[in-house]
Amino acid sequence: MNKIGILGVGSYLPEKKVTNFDLAKILDTSDEWIRARTGIKERRFASPDQAASDLAANAAERAIKDAGISQEDIDLIIVGTNSPDTLYPATACLVQDKIGAKNAAAFDLQAGCTGWVYASIVGAQFIKTGMYKHVLVIGVEAITKMVDEKDRDTYVLFGDGAGATILGNVDKGGLLSSVLCADGSLAEHLILPAGGSRLPLSQEVLDKRLQYTRMNGREVFKFAVREITKVSLNAIKEAGLTVDDIRWFIPHQANLRIIEAGIKRIRIPKERVAITIDKYGNSSAATVPIALDEIYKADKIKTGDKLLMVSFGAGMTSGAFIVEWSK
Ligand code: UT7
Repeated sequence: MNKIGILGVGSYLPEKKVTNFDLAKILDTSDEWIRARTGIKERRFASPDQAASDLAANAAERAIKDAGISQEDIDLIIVGTNSPDTLYPATACLVQDKIGAKNAAAFDLQAGCTGWVYASIVGAQFIKTGMYKHVLVIGVEAITKMVDEKDRDTYVLFGDGAGATILGNVDKGGLLSSVLCADGSLAEHLILPAGGSRLPLSQEVLDKRLQYTRMNGREVFKFAVREITKVSLNAIKEAGLTVDDIRWFIPHQANLRIIEAGIKRIRIPKERVAITIDKYGNSSAATVPIALDEIYKADKIKTGDKLLMVSFGAGMTSGAFIVEWSK
């Protein structure tokens, strides 16, 4: 039986911490509002010379070390990101070069904040078919460079970081179920309007600040609570499990209120939920693997534990998968 599991985990957070108080100095906002509405206390900002591939390469090196394999053993790199170094080439190719994974194919996968969840499920298919043995899956964002420091609706929410996993064959456990969804009719609710082929950069675009993220927060909130519940319950059902079988629920960290509304509907107790939003904010496609690494490094995951990882985001997309821990 071809079982696919997580062989290694790693993450990287840039050093610079930005507190709510720091933001209140430049925007019409307050620590009280941000904490009450989002659960965020501080977040990390990449430095001016750090792009997504730099953060990703650091996380990747750690995951490779944790898996006990070498760079040359990597067959494929998939990077889920909304803040690639450049529109092309793929950030995955830049990571391949930076870490010296010279035998690896590499591509990026764009699925909003669900990017790492999508990439994990896509990566697993290559192992399932026998085409590849080791797939490096990275969720990374230097997204604070793509939000408008004049827009309090979005600027207070986001942070930077990277999380990485190595997928490969395992003897026991591994991937038990996976669910991917998309609804492109909702695309406009979370969008970076300019810089692509629809609206190339121009002086007018810059004057209107369309090179930055635009979000209809209330619509995204409603979508998030609905989807987090739906895809989680579907993943549990597909795995033939019940909610009580889930040891760790590792959700996308966009807003503590979304997580709380979701776990109430799914009926998962809060002590089984990984929460990092207070420290790192919303690092988009990177939140789930960073949270996974955090509980893993804190020795909170035991062999046989069932982990439910779930995300939602631009597209709009959503997705979830369950892994039985086999390390
Ligand atoms: O990972 C990608 C997915 N993204 C998300 O999941 C985000 C989903 N949405 C949200 O998390 C929430 O909608 C927000 C945190 C973005 C906003 O929270 P909300 O409770 O939906 O607030 P709101 O947009 O309804 O705004 C309430 C008030 C407004 O003022 P009025 O109209 O009531 O006078 C806003 O102008 O809060 C105001 N406001 C702020 N005040 C202080 C909005 N942003 C800020 C701010 N500081 N940063």
